Amino acid sequence: MGSNRLKLGVLVSGRGSNLQAIIDAIERGDLEAIIALVVSDKKEAFALERARKHGIEALFIDPKAYESREEHERAVGDELEKRGVGLICLAGYMRILSEYFVNRFRWRIINIHPALLPSFPGLHGQKQALDYGVKISGCTVHFVDEKTDHGPIIIQAAVPVLEGDDEDTLAARILEYEHKIYPRAIQLFAQGRLEIEGRRVKVKRAPIHTWAVANPPLEG
Ligand code: GRF
Repeated sequence: MGSNRLKLGVLVSGRGSNLQAIIDAIERGDLEAIIALVVSDKKEAFALERARKHGIEALFIDPKAYESREEHERAVGDELEKRGVGLICLAGYMRILSEYFVNRFRWRIINIHPALLPSFPGLHGQKQALDYGVKISGCTVHFVDEKTDHGPIIIQAAVPVLEGDDEDTLAARILEYEHKIYPRAIQLFAQGRLEIEGRRVKVKRAPIHTWAVANPPLEG
């Protein structure tokens, strides 16, 4: 059944709650994809444990074992390609990808960022929002291009900033929405419904064949 499903490669560096949300969505049947491989650049990343617990192959690929950033990326890319990965999901991956990697997997890499881009790119998006004093922040799933937190936007969720918030409470509120929109964005990709036109990502209706299978014509 699963063999023609989209294969995901998930790149992580830390606790892996977004990875967990993707795993859960697949197990619930809300996301028609398979996680073929999880790669971490940090040996101690809890995300690796989460993956293995669900029988998902998980590799630590040590950047320090390579001469350059590009060589490390080449090794990561080769492992992903070997497993037929069709979409790479960055989920708390703390490395900036080079042009080499972005070009190799052009429009097949997506990322989740904890702010409403183009506001507050880079590290600590939640703290940046809080310090700036915005009343609404949120999260963004976007395609990855050469610039950090910059590519065409697939889905965003708006999340209010409340009076008593500190970085942790705001981050936790945003995280709940990250866990909702990331699997949803991946599902749209898996269904072939995303079309990039310049900076805009159009979400096409479900392809006819999907509809026809789900709703076969009535007899007679
Ligand atoms: C999330 O806030 C995500 O938006 C950002 O890094 C964090 C990763 O958290 N890119 P987790 O490892 O998925 O729990």
